[in-house]
Amino acid sequence: MTLIAKLSKRYASKQMNGKKLPQNKVDNILEAIRLAPTSMGLQPFKILVVESQEIKNKIFETAAPGQPQIPNASQVLIFACYRKVTDEILDTYFDLINKTRPMLAKEKVIAYRNMMNGLLNKTADENFQWAARQAYIALGFGLTAAAEQEVDSVPIEGYNPEALDKLLNLHERNLGSVCMFAIGFRNEETDYNARLPKVRKSTLDLFEFL
Ligand SMILES: Cc1cc2nc3c(=O)[nH]c(=O)nc-3n(C[C@H](O)[C@H](O)[C@H](O)COP(=O)(O)O)c2cc1C
Repeated sequence: MTLIAKLSKRYASKQMNGKKLPQNKVDNILEAIRLAPTSMGLQPFKILVVESQEIKNKIFETAAPGQPQIPNASQVLIFACYRKVTDEILDTYFDLINKTRPMLAKEKVIAYRNMMNGLLNKTADENFQWAARQAYIALGFGLTAAAEQEVDSVPIEGYNPEALDKLLNLHERNLGSVCMFAIGFRNEETDYNARLPKVRKSTLDLFEFL
């Protein structure tokens, strides 16, 4: 099946069946997320992979009661972004660059770091909104990888971020959640979305060729 055929088959699953996904499928989805590009390569987020049934239940009860997929998902990924970019975060990133690309000229790396230092002068809100945009690209990679693996999934923005961040002590770690991504197996009987045709703009409505 082509990627387009798989993307046509994927849909936002509303009800999952509680079964665990094969680990290789989960690993594939996580690897696609890890490989997603981000602005300046910083990957300004952490992704929490919730496997614990107890934590899934708590998330559902305290932060997302309108999302019945959560307790019955195999995993729930939480995209949590840096609330503020710090010197320490940039130091860690540049240690990784220096280790991975020792062939780069020192002056080039210093110039790149000086350019990235601009992030330190932005407000926390500017840092967070920018980081969120990067996280959504990674979410898109995860969505595509799930479709490719023929795994059911759903992105979830409909939750209370303050409640979720408090539950997982994210603020203490300089993190704030921006969205969740549940993956698993659909419940064949109750997942009404599975049987509905896709609603999408036509090519002519969506694209304007200049
Ligand atoms: C960023 C984002 C947030 C979403 N949040 C939710 C959500 O909170 N709950 C939900 O059931 N679906 C959510 N969805 C799923 C969309 O409603 C769904 O993708 C859209 O209606 C298109 O349908 P399809 O994915 O089945 O093709 C979200 C989708 C995206 C991309």
